[in-house]
Amino acid sequence: MIKLNLKTSIAGKDFEHPIFNASGPKCITREELEEIGVSRSAGIMAKSCTIKPRDGNPSPRHFDFCGGAIGSYGLPNLGYKKYLEIFPQLKSYCKPIIASVSGMSIEENQTIISEFSKVSEIDLIELNISCPNIIGKPQVGYDFDYSKKMIAEIGKVCKKPLGLKLPPYFDFAHFNTMAKIINNSKVSFVTCINSVGNGLYVDFENECTVIKPKKGFGGVGGIIKPFGLANVRKFRELLRDDINIVGVGGIFTGKDVFEYLLCGADAVQIGTAFMQSNTQIFEKLLLEFKQVIQDKEYTRLSQFKNKLKEI
Ligand code: DHB
Repeated sequence: MIKLNLKTSIAGKDFEHPIFNASGPKCITREELEEIGVSRSAGIMAKSCTIKPRDGNPSPRHFDFCGGAIGSYGLPNLGYKKYLEIFPQLKSYCKPIIASVSGMSIEENQTIISEFSKVSEIDLIELNISCPNIIGKPQVGYDFDYSKKMIAEIGKVCKKPLGLKLPPYFDFAHFNTMAKIINNSKVSFVTCINSVGNGLYVDFENECTVIKPKKGFGGVGGIIKPFGLANVRKFRELLRDDINIVGVGGIFTGKDVFEYLLCGADAVQIGTAFMQSNTQIFEKLLLEFKQVIQDKEYTRLSQFKNKLKEI
């Protein structure tokens, strides 16, 4: 059998293959992070953290529907100090460790990121500027002036490769504005897309909302793949070549993984599909992805990455 080389890298960090977990589901506690460590996930990504521990929004705060899910968890996490203790304990899994940061202000993000910068076991830092579920806080990624300031101020203290978790953009003018900001910054990778914020799912039978926070409005995952692919494709066209792209949104099969790479992603993250199953999902996706590559008679990612044809 022909040997496949699935290796990829993000900001100079090597990944054995391009599939790992998204910040969000089942990556809050040490036990959950250890489970990801023993799984076939190519990296260990943690839940976005804040200065203080948070319980998050009231329940029910998650609802699965056909093809996707809606949720408004409200950043439940252990607080960054706990992750300073946990990350070094994950090194034995020998895969990249990615911290996600979602402080409530520039200052909070600076505090967390300066401390994370001192932890040698952390490989990459993803700054989340797109959380849609904090009551009373708009998504930073839709405020371009504030995003520019945030990125510049974080760049001053971050000593690790810095990534940005972006919200989905829907207008080419907005892609252009954000790409210009990123191209003129120290950001070395982007992750797109976060859940499509403020969706509303209706329980037809009972004529009511399905989640409690924010009067039923929440981030939608799963059925968002066309937007995820579009954001990856557009940012690949607009960003500097040395800025890596991690695709996320609606990946349930190996074919989905392939499509993201075809659109220009260097790696992918798994959110809703992981939420709806368990760590076996990484093995399943990896096997399916390998099969797709073999069927198409490729042997390494560079043969099809960013090679989507236009008709
Ligand atoms: C949450 C949701 C997000 O989409 C995100 O980026 C961060 C946090 C949440 O509800 O916990």
